[in-house]
Amino acid sequence: MHVNGKNYQTIWAHPDNNKIIQVIDQRKLPFEFEIIDLKSAHDAFEAIQNMTVRGAPLIGVTGAYGVYLGLLNATSNDWSNDLVETANYLKGARPTAVNLAILIDEIVGALNGCHTLEDAQICSFSEANRLKIREIEWSEAIGDFGCELIEKISKRKNGEPVNILTHCNAGWLACIDWGTATAPIYKAFLKGIPVHVWVDETRPRNQGARLTAWELAQEGVPHTVIPDNAGGHLMQHGMVDLCIVGSDRTTVSGDVANKIGTYLKALAASDNKIPFYVALPSSTIDFTMSDGVLEIPIEQRDGEEVSHIEGELENGEITKIRIINGTSRVANFGFDVTPAKYITALITERGICEANQAAIGKLFPEKLLGR
Ligand code: MRU
Repeated sequence: MHVNGKNYQTIWAHPDNNKIIQVIDQRKLPFEFEIIDLKSAHDAFEAIQNMTVRGAPLIGVTGAYGVYLGLLNATSNDWSNDLVETANYLKGARPTAVNLAILIDEIVGALNGCHTLEDAQICSFSEANRLKIREIEWSEAIGDFGCELIEKISKRKNGEPVNILTHCNAGWLACIDWGTATAPIYKAFLKGIPVHVWVDETRPRNQGARLTAWELAQEGVPHTVIPDNAGGHLMQHGMVDLCIVGSDRTTVSGDVANKIGTYLKALAASDNKIPFYVALPSSTIDFTMSDGVLEIPIEQRDGEEVSHIEGELENGEITKIRIINGTSRVANFGFDVTPAKYITALITERGICEANQAAIGKLFPEKLLGR
């Protein structure tokens, strides 16, 4: 998608030196647009952990490139042990988004046939590139399927803008391109369907206000940033036609872990009979888990994200200020789980399905068989 009119993806190999992987530093957006270099598995780990890169699909692809970077620094006689160690190390960078473990396992699996370190380096680079391209194709397919839903509502509304509420950033910044929740929105917008997006600010890190609003603005998509608490009110007053959110881990029974606050939006949508869709590639489906509330690990993050807020001063300086007293305790759960019963449907790269095991299994039969 676009940054100041120029096409970007979120991760790529340095054009002059493919031993360097480059990413957009998302901690600085929307105030500064900076690209940083990853040169080792440790750099990839840190980038995932400190949220230079974030969003489930991008975390997964960064992990895959991390395996490649690890192999570049491996010793030739012990590279297969190094590989296992690096893979386990990278998987520990963040706990909730299952894409990380899934893509790392995939890239490690693809290296099975490699006999030398040099082979493994070459193979891991092409495999990471393949996984990246696959994510882009999947996002685009999600966009096409989801666009049909928006188009149907648009026809019903006789060309009045379709109001879509989204939470956090499940946009191209969270993926490689297109996004998951935003892909149908971009596709509809490009087709000339009038859309308007309600962007939840998404405290505490404000990925909605900082990232989703920025990327929608870059594409020229009409949108409005709202405090997290506003969604229920908008839904009660007919100002939301549908919700589309992303996912960090979806169980085989259709429960969805996504950014904290998603569950409350799903409850409000259910109470107001507003369709609540979750857009996700199959790299976000954990076929080993069934009960999302009981089984999905929920990341707990630094309390400073709650007690402080970051922004830009009038003079352009980025600063962080404390917004609560200095002694109260804070809690910072990064994600919550929306039970399948509140989800109208899942929008995947293979089509739209109900959030239950039978429907998911119909779309991905080979994955269910492998359980
Ligand atoms: O903590 P983050 O910013 O990595 O959380 C991101 C989200 O929760 C997204 O909604 C999710 O990863 C879906 S991404 C397409």
